Amino acid sequence: SLHTVTTMPTERQPGCPFDPPKELIQAREHGPISRFPFPDGHEGRLVTGYDLVRSVLADSRFSSRKELMRHHPLVDLGEIEVPPAPPGEFLLMDEPQHSRYRKPLVGRFTVRRMRLLTERVEQVTAEHLDAMEKAGPSADLVTAFAKPIPSIIICELLGVPYEDRGFFQEHIDTFLGGEVGDEELIAAYTATQQYLAELVVAKRANPTDDVLSELTDSDLTDEELRGVALILLSAGFDTTANMLALGTFALLRNPEQLAALRADPALTDKAVEELLRYLSVAKTFMRTALEDVELGGQTIKAGTTVILSYATANRDPERFADPHTLDLQRQDGGHLAFGHGIHQCLGQQLARVEMRVALPALLNRFPTLRLAVPADEVALRPETADIYGVKSLPVTWDA
Ligand code: HEM
Repeated sequence: SLHTVTTMPTERQPGCPFDPPKELIQAREHGPISRFPFPDGHEGRLVTGYDLVRSVLADSRFSSRKELMRHHPLVDLGEIEVPPAPPGEFLLMDEPQHSRYRKPLVGRFTVRRMRLLTERVEQVTAEHLDAMEKAGPSADLVTAFAKPIPSIIICELLGVPYEDRGFFQEHIDTFLGGEVGDEELIAAYTATQQYLAELVVAKRANPTDDVLSELTDSDLTDEELRGVALILLSAGFDTTANMLALGTFALLRNPEQLAALRADPALTDKAVEELLRYLSVAKTFMRTALEDVELGGQTIKAGTTVILSYATANRDPERFADPHTLDLQRQDGGHLAFGHGIHQCLGQQLARVEMRVALPALLNRFPTLRLAVPADEVALRPETADIYGVKSLPVTWDA
């Protein structure tokens, strides 16, 4: 009979900020798929093993449609009706709607396009390191470095005018930071949506050199473009920011690995992939079965909601040798940190450029970089946050 996970964990083990919650690791030890009774009574499933997570992601019988996600892993929502995703918000759509939005974007996010951005990422990174150094010898790495770099890049990509940056960044910080109550969150979300709606109209009137302006040439409506912009923003900012800060924390806690990276800059690309695997900041997503599906010897009934744990899939000992060790030299690639299948991260090349530039630049600039507080005092996001990470990372260095 199937192992049952009775509640989704809301915290990680004290002292293990980089490891998925022990309940999920233990679930995977019982087998790659578990029963998960949702708080509203829905008989769901939790998939924790690499092969099965990957096969669900590759299977069009499992849907990403928002209106089918009626069961919350932690809260009994009762009999609520969930509306479909607003126009343009393609992360929560299936084909053919999904492709209508994703297709015109793909050419803007190729490896080649993103390499062209490298120089700009280098500039922005250097500016922030200069400011850090000037204000130092200590800083909160989150506010001084990890957040502003991806935030400026996404603003430039969307074509947010320079004079609006402060206002815009504040709102997206509030609505993605997960640190405020519902009312404030909805207010920040609404303000962001409103701003993007106005931005779309402005780009149509006066196209500039950015993704949004280019998309005004497609057959997407203003409302759809606003939705696309919102998805790019919400998928692309907080994820990368948390990888930069949590990634630095993980390196500082693994001094041998850090020394190896400092000694050999050619290790950077591999190091970034390993940090993505090891940290899996985008840790869980859900899908709903559209019909009965055989999965790992079980029948998943039509209508069943399935929680996919990318974080434990990336720590699966059947896929990765010594999975709980951060090993920047690791040979077994193929992590699921960017997902897989039709929704696989559109911005992964951009995220890679940002991490490959910013992390080594930080280490070069501050050869004596270290935590300014004991490691167990670093404030982590709760497991309930959509994206995992540190709230702040106090660091210091020899001036
Ligand atoms: C989708 C992770 C950075 C844009 C996804 C998914 C994951 C992910 C796991 C798949 C979700 C699913 O299976 O339903 C990450 C991580 C990042 C990152 C870990 C940073 C290290 C970015 C950036 C952008 C971006 C920089 C864009 C500027 C998107 C978009 C989707 C997506 C648009 C939806 C794709 C679709 O539905 O077809 N990301 N992402 N991401 N990501 Fe990223």
